[in-house]
Order: sequence, then C-alpha cells, then structure tokens
Amino acid sequence: MKPHDLIVIGAGAAGLMCAITAAQRGRRVLVLERANKLGKKILMSGGGRCNFTNLYVTPDRFISANPHFCKSALSRYTQWDFIEWVERSGIEYFEKETVNGLSGQLFCRESSKQIVAMLLDECARLGVEILLNCETLELRHSTTSWVAPSHVSRRSDREATVENGFRLKTSQGSVQAEALVIASGGLSIPSLGGSGFAFEVAERFGLRRLPTSAGLVPLTFTDAMHEVCSRLSGLSIEAELSCNSQSFREDILFTHRGMSGPATLQISSYWKPGQTLLVNLLPGRNARELLHGWKKTHSKSLLRSCLDELLPRKLVLELEQQRWQGLAETPLAEWPDARLDAIARLLESWSLKPAGTEGYRTAEVTLGGVDTRDLSSRTMESTTPGLYFVGEAVDVTGHLGGFNFQWAWSSGFAAGQAV
Ligand code: FDA
Repeated sequence: MKPHDLIVIGAGAAGLMCAITAAQRGRRVLVLERANKLGKKILMSGGGRCNFTNLYVTPDRFISANPHFCKSALSRYTQWDFIEWVERSGIEYFEKETVNGLSGQLFCRESSKQIVAMLLDECARLGVEILLNCETLELRHSTTSWVAPSHVSRRSDREATVENGFRLKTSQGSVQAEALVIASGGLSIPSLGGSGFAFEVAERFGLRRLPTSAGLVPLTFTDAMHEVCSRLSGLSIEAELSCNSQSFREDILFTHRGMSGPATLQISSYWKPGQTLLVNLLPGRNARELLHGWKKTHSKSLLRSCLDELLPRKLVLELEQQRWQGLAETPLAEWPDARLDAIARLLESWSLKPAGTEGYRTAEVTLGGVDTRDLSSRTMESTTPGLYFVGEAVDVTGHLGGFNFQWAWSSGFAAGQAV
C-alpha cells in the first residue's frame, strides 16, 4: 500500500473530522475502523437525530482535570463553524425546547444519517481512504511499540527498525505514515465501538492516564429505593438534582433499576460512589411557605390532596407512605408546624444514595482518559512527536446537550490542522 501522511485510528466523529481537516490541507489520509460501519455513535445519538452541537458552548460545560485545556480547540473550531457546514449541506435542524426553555441543543430535523453522509461525502471528495473491519495488530515507532494482547508478533517485525513515523500491522496488511491520530473513543457502549485501545496505546507511549468511569449514565438503587423506583417506573418529573456543588434542573425519569432522564444523566458525571444526591422536587418554589400557606388556606385538606396539584399522585403516595403515614388522614390544620417543616425539607432536599451507575453498557461518555498534561492543547499532539489523541479518549467530557460532539469536532480539527 502506498505511504500516507497520516493514519487515523477510529472513524467516529473526532476521527472523521480530523481526517477531513488534514485532507483539506492536502494530506494523504488513511482511516482505520475496527467496526463494519462508520460513525455508529453519531447514527444512534440524539434518538436518531444527532444533537450535533449546542448554541451555548462555553468551557464550563466540560469536565476535565484541567478545565482550561479545552479552550484553545473550542475557540478555533466553534459551534458556528459546524453549524455553517450543516447549513451549507442543506441539513435542516431545530433547537430543542426543555423544561428550562430553549436549550441551545441542535438536532437534525430528519435523521442523524445526514451528519454521517455529510462527513462521508467530504471524505470521498477529498480522497480520504477508509478501511472498515480493520483491526490494528501492531503499532511500531522508533521509540516504542504496541502489540495487541491477542496477537503474536513475528521476530522479523519486532526487529525491523522504524526510522520515520509509525508502521502499523493490521488485519488488512501493513501501513505507515509520519503521523498517527488515535481517535478510537472511550469505553462507553462496547456494542457501538467503545474500546480501551487509546488508553493502552497512551500508556505504552508513557502518557499518563486519569482514572476512567462512566458518565452521562443512569443511576441505580438497591433496597427500598429500588422498589420505589420500580413502582414509579415510567414516571417523569421536573426536579433539581445536586451533588458536589453542581445542580441540574431538568426532568428525571424513574426506571426499573433506578433513575434516568436528563437531570440524572447530567449529575451522574459529578456523582462519586458512596455519595448522596439531593433531589429538589419543587424547584423554584419555597416548600415551607407553600405548606404553611396551605395550612391556613386549605385547613381541612389532606397534605396529599394539596401536593397533587404539583406532583404526580403516584409519587405523592410513595412519599406519604414513607414519611407521613401517621398523619395521612389528618387535616392540615391539625399538623404540628415542626412536622410540616420536616416535609418541606424532604420536598426540597430528598436525600438519596445511589448504589451505582448502569456502567459503560449504557453510558453516553467516558470520564477521565488520556491526561491532558501530556497533550498540547493547540494541536492534541502527545509527548511523542507525531502521535495525537482526539475526542472522547482525552480527559475532556462535555455535559449532555451536544457538547461532546462539539469537543469531537473541535479536537479533531485541531489535530487535523497540525499534522
Ligand atoms: P467514537 O466512539 O464516536 O468513535 C470511535 C471510533 O473508533 C468508533 O467507530 C470505534 O468503532 C472505533 N474504534 C475503537 N477502537 C478501535 C480500534 N482499536 N481500531 C480501530 N477503530 C477503533 N454526544 C453529543 O454531543 N450529542 C448527542 O446527541 C449524543 N448522543 C449519544 C448517544 C449515545 C447512545 C452515545 C453512546 C453517545 C452519545 N453522545 C452524544 C456522545 C458522543 O457520541 C461521543 O462523545 C462521541 O461519539 C465521541 O466521538 P469520538 O470520535 O471520540 O469516539
């Protein structure tokens, strides 16, 4: 096979963006993809409509050990650049409305297939070569080599010197290039391509790796709360979830295993095992004033009848059974003030202790990853010259809402400009 200037491993959002940017600059680019299909996560994203970016991209919507790292790439390829490309490609999109009003989240009106087609059309126009079903077996560089755990390398391969760049042995033959971009994503959703390849290569080349965990993921409960969630399964309410000085006010959804929905997914990226979550069931209201007001204005009513106006009956009955069963049939006028105060505290800060998360099986992203201390924030180049890491593999994780794709476009662009 003729030599290329650049090999990109992984044909997801970041890899394709990097390949296109480099090819636009005249580089000969080869993309190696292990799966039988390109851009699987793009296709599945946003319920099939791909939330491809957000109107309000700011660095504080990203989690990283170094919160400044993402700034350079995000400022050099912005949401406006991607939106302009989407518009030029004739893809219609809309801004999603959430409980907080317009959210800035942009989705394809028709299908996420349009985003994949847009990327692939550009790859084809620029002559980017893409190999599917292509497994990397060995990766050699003058300083270091990596061999797939299941692969036995030949002595001649081990001993051959690599003078320039990177030589790869793949399931479809040997290839080489001066620069190598690892865009193989993180560990989330193995069936959609999630893999630890980037972290293995990074470690082999002496890069530091920050602990990884599942992000934007449903939370699970055991014991009594598991039963409550199971009984409420399918119920969605607006709430504010708080943990570790972060709060998200959006919908939560009860499931058979625990809690999901946008607010839960957002807070899951901040929650650590063993920690408690606070749930405000009446966000934006003063529960104490409300309850004491009802005591005066609805003195003959039961608490559950008043709460019915604000919360679903099924949830009110669960709370009643847990917290005020003895006063369930007592008119509000006869409630001691201290008990009303306690219920107000419950409604504003219901304290829940998740048992865990659903893990990488359903997580939208991987937190942690390749340590940004070993990467250039301008180019994504690592401490090994010519070796780059982009996208989800890097320790930069966006909030829910199109931020993760924007990071993939921006970091892919940064590397594509540099190689
Ligand atoms: P990505 O995982 O997309 O691509 C990596 C590619 O590398 C894959 O094609 C994989 O097969 C390949 N690969 C892995 N190992 C390899 C190896 N050893 N050799 C060759 N190839 C290899 N974000 C957002 O902003 N808006 C949204 O709407 C959604 N929705 C969403 C839904 C679901 C179900 C998930 C799982 C995730 C999202 N996300 C999202 C997150 C978003 O999908 C994610 O952040 C980006 O896809 C990351 O892009 P990357 O290119 O870095 O990795």
